[in-house]
Amino acid sequence: MKIYAHRGFSGQYPENTMEAFLQVLKTPAEGIELDVQLSKDGEVVVIHDETVDRTTSGSGYVKDYSLTELKKFQIHHSNCSVQTIPTLDEVLYWIQETQLSLNIELKTDRIRYEGIEEKVLMEIEKYGLSDRVYFSSFHYETVQRCKCLAPHIPAHFLISRSFKKSPLTLKVDQINGLNPNVALLKNQKRIRLYQMQGIKIYPYTINQKEQLSLCLATRCDGVITDYPVQLKEWLSQLA
Ligand code: G3P
Ligand code: MG
Repeated sequence: MKIYAHRGFSGQYPENTMEAFLQVLKTPAEGIELDVQLSKDGEVVVIHDETVDRTTSGSGYVKDYSLTELKKFQIHHSNCSVQTIPTLDEVLYWIQETQLSLNIELKTDRIRYEGIEEKVLMEIEKYGLSDRVYFSSFHYETVQRCKCLAPHIPAHFLISRSFKKSPLTLKVDQINGLNPNVALLKNQKRIRLYQMQGIKIYPYTINQKEQLSLCLATRCDGVITDYPVQLKEWLSQLA
């Protein structure tokens, strides 16, 4: 079962920062999950929210600032030095020298960032990383767009509350994986149906032993967690 560090090692370091990504190397995680949005000048930046308020010293929408402006906002955390919002380019440049996989979540469910799929793909290709990344999004159109642009790169559909938006007939040529909120694993029948169609299951965010137990019983292909070290320990205990 593959372990993906959610927003980097976000259980102990500031989410979606280079520090949180670097720290993943000291954990047993095989990969990193991160979130991307577009700056005013069309740069792909790594940040979870549409606004900078919660995680940085700034305020306002990511889309209203140029990359130079976004870089001025500080990210403070007691476990490390001051961080800034990374670009996807910076992360890819760094990750190419590691063995880590990367789950790039395109945050297009609230703001439809025109052309973000093409930009992300161009950056992946620039570093020759297409065999180590996969796309994910809560926005089904983005998943389809990614699949259409790059059929060779896996694309996963994220689901938070219910299976309403995910048809029973999902096939592997449309999506390669489903990343459901862990609460949705209770619908085992639906999960099994997708698994039978060859769709991989990567639930989020697995931060408790009982949740991991359920993932094992469900034969999930991977998990997304804030605590990769703890999760591996539980995995060894439960295996
Ligand atoms: O990819 C899993 C997870 O990151 C989806 O939710 O809100 O943490 O991006 P969120
Ligand atoms: Mg995410």
